[in-house]
Amino acid sequence: MGRAELAGRLRNTAPGARAALFAEADAVRRAAVGDTVHLRGLVEISSHCARACHYCGLNANNQALPRYRLTIAEITAAAQAAAACGYGTVVLQGGEDPGLTGDFISKTISAIKRETGLAVTLSLGERDTDDLINWRAKGADRYLLRFETGNRDLYQRYHPDLPGRKSDRLAQLQVLRELGYEVGSGVLVGLPGQTYDDLAADIELFSALRLDMVGVGPFIPHPATPLGRTPFPADAEQVPNTADLALAVIALARLELPQANIPSTTALATLNPADGYAAGLRAGANVVMPNVTPARYRRQYEVYPGKPAPHDEVTGCDHYIREMLAGLGRNAGVGRGDSPAFLARRAAAEKARTGGEQHGN
Ligand code: 5AD
Repeated sequence: MGRAELAGRLRNTAPGARAALFAEADAVRRAAVGDTVHLRGLVEISSHCARACHYCGLNANNQALPRYRLTIAEITAAAQAAAACGYGTVVLQGGEDPGLTGDFISKTISAIKRETGLAVTLSLGERDTDDLINWRAKGADRYLLRFETGNRDLYQRYHPDLPGRKSDRLAQLQVLRELGYEVGSGVLVGLPGQTYDDLAADIELFSALRLDMVGVGPFIPHPATPLGRTPFPADAEQVPNTADLALAVIALARLELPQANIPSTTALATLNPADGYAAGLRAGANVVMPNVTPARYRRQYEVYPGKPAPHDEVTGCDHYIREMLAGLGRNAGVGRGDSPAFLARRAAAEKARTGGEQHGN
């Protein structure tokens, strides 16, 4: 699909158009990745952040937010809880916290691998290549780094650089890929100033980056951030920050990248606690990330308000999610749930390598 067609489909809210798009994405999802929904245990390991992103409640200028950082023992215990719930992957997510040193994360990965054997996904923002190399060597499997918006002007406006360090998320995504990580990225939907053409270009970028995982959610204004106080421009090209449009982006991402792993994101469930996760799963998504952060810290990881969604109040394993999957006629995955896109890429690399050896010998 070209950019004009993508933009046209994003704009098309004629009666039945969204339902048709979601049904098309659902059929592609079923054919390409099946009815299995992979569950990832999400551990929010630190709410400290050095950055000042205008949309995010963790931003360094938000003095009202209490900050915490889990210990290695706490993170490992959360990973064990995820394993006990039957999840095959643990996702370690945090702000850009200098206290999460390269060594701290390396030790954490080793402990999780030793004690649980789970697949480990990291989502720790922009980090030095040396850290990414070391973490991969310790066994980290995947990395999530949303590029947030591909519109350079918007990105720079809302995502100030650290002094002396130019932000380049696309470059880091390339490094992650070269290091053999399974690579995920994604965007926010509904940033003030974001247009339909911007979102269409973002979806094209998902394909160009050949992402293994794509995470998309609606922007939810946080009152303690600069964008919590910014009115939306009254412009026909301005996209709304609705679940409906975020679902359309998810559906188009599925059409463009049939084999990717695509989560139904927490922000969807926050806007619509009763049906948000299910709506994502009906529109092309095949992953859910139940929160396994120790309960006492969860309110402090306030990227946006309204989080955690009510079902997260359930302590222990998230029965709500398994019930929802049963209601959708879907089944919960067992094991790692690597993306078929990644497995195909690795198999091709392996074939090239052994083929090369034969020629060389
Ligand atoms: N609303 C929705 N999502 C947000 N994120 C950050 N701030 C917000 C917000 N106000 C998303 C970013 C980030 C992810 C961890 O949370 O896309 O990559």
